Amino acid sequence: MTQYSNIPPFQSSREKEKPRLLVVEDDSSIATQMKWALAQDYEVLLAEDRPNALELFRQEIPPVVTLDLGLPPHPSEAKEGFAALSEMLSHDGFAKVIVITGQGEKDNALKAVGEGAYDFFCKPIQIDELKVVLQRAFYVSQLERENRELQLRSNSEPFAAMLGTSPQIQEVFASIRKVAATDAPVLITGESGTGKELVAKAIHQLSTRKTGPFSVINCSAIPETLLESELFGHEKGAFTGAHIQRKGRFETARGGTLFLDEIGELSLPLQVKLLRFLQEQRIERVGGREEIFIDVRVMAATNRDLKDAMKEGRFREDLYYRLGVVTIPLPPLRDREGDILLLAASLLHRYSDENKKKISGFTTQAIGALETYHWPGNVRELENRIKRAVIMAEGSKITPKDLELSFQYTKLEGRGLREARKGLEKDFILRALQRNKGNVTKTAEELGVSRPTLYGLMEKLGIKNR
Ligand SMILES: Nc1ncnc2c1ncn2[C@@H]1O[C@H](COP(=O)(O)OP(=O)(O)OP(=O)(O)O)[C@@H](O)[C@H]1O
Ligand SMILES: [Mg+2]
Repeated sequence: MTQYSNIPPFQSSREKEKPRLLVVEDDSSIATQMKWALAQDYEVLLAEDRPNALELFRQEIPPVVTLDLGLPPHPSEAKEGFAALSEMLSHDGFAKVIVITGQGEKDNALKAVGEGAYDFFCKPIQIDELKVVLQRAFYVSQLERENRELQLRSNSEPFAAMLGTSPQIQEVFASIRKVAATDAPVLITGESGTGKELVAKAIHQLSTRKTGPFSVINCSAIPETLLESELFGHEKGAFTGAHIQRKGRFETARGGTLFLDEIGELSLPLQVKLLRFLQEQRIERVGGREEIFIDVRVMAATNRDLKDAMKEGRFREDLYYRLGVVTIPLPPLRDREGDILLLAASLLHRYSDENKKKISGFTTQAIGALETYHWPGNVRELENRIKRAVIMAEGSKITPKDLELSFQYTKLEGRGLREARKGLEKDFILRALQRNKGNVTKTAEELGVSRPTLYGLMEKLGIKNR
């Protein structure tokens, strides 16, 4: 993976320049001769020893390198050359390294090819031959690069179950892909219905744990006394009613992922037990004496601000930092540019198929309503409204009424532009105030007006701030 980050973009400005070739050669007369012969076709970078070669390699990421195996401080041995080869390839496994050896050192040349060199040459170098080999190496390297570009691009397709093209959600997709490759705990935050569980599932499915279980437990849905045994299991006789030994979710999720929903609701004693697991990967069943090692990845979600909970002493700071090694904040639906209509269309398609109803789309007013509504319940609310609208719809198009969304346009129709503008403005400011919980300074900032201007507008439009 690290190699990808080193690849300059394929369509870079570099492309108009000559391709970069790194020549590692301690014999300065040979180096000069090579540079002179190749400078017309390539930007030739010269290095006379391993440290210099590696520095240039890291900085310039040349796709092709010619590497003299005998380098100082041991120019008569191949040691430094082999070390340089291995370091270069571990930095960029796609580099094409052409090894150059002294006469009668074919064994070393073959060994180098065995270790990942692209090709070899024995001195004295025939420049014409070298040119052919270089041409081919650059060509192969370019093909590989194009191929990887394509692969990366297809990887950035949205996940099957998660839709969205807005930059806001694309950023979430990128985080999902990154953390899926690791085993770190993940904290997913966001308003209710933004897709936190879906994100956890996507990470699980893209991770090496995908064949293991994905276990969800909602910390706020189970009373504290039961939650402890639900999570950690209990021994026979641990408490009244514990007739048999029982394994908890940690144990049953072994090899997979345990998703702790509404983590902010976890009681302080259970927070301690969870922290212990995150530190040592060990749990103890309720009433048990032995520690059990468990390989499970923990992800957690919250729609509350844990920082507030920490300030109030309801959430442990150390747990917060352990859990939130990686935090993925989910943007509210209203902030995902363009995604509302994309999701609405896809949901309409799904539900009208399910209900065997022929509905061709949304009326203009319905589109306006979908776009301007505040969506406090986010994607889940959108699902519910469209599900209902499909059932209720009488015509071939969904109306704001089917969605149970009244839109200002419909209210304002027939009232002239001046009134409509005023109505829209009022609605717009009201929503912004609502979003900012009545904070005028923040609202003014969001709307791009000064505080006095906002106060003036509120007075003119008859808006009373609660
Ligand atoms: N980007 C998306 N594309 C398609 N469907 C989505 C997307 N995000 C969420 N959903 C759907 O919206 C619903 C709510 O998602 P989910 O349960 O993951 O949200 P949540 O953040 O966990 O909600 P809550 O806070 O209420 O538990 C689910 O049916 C899910 O499939
Ligand atoms: Mg959820």
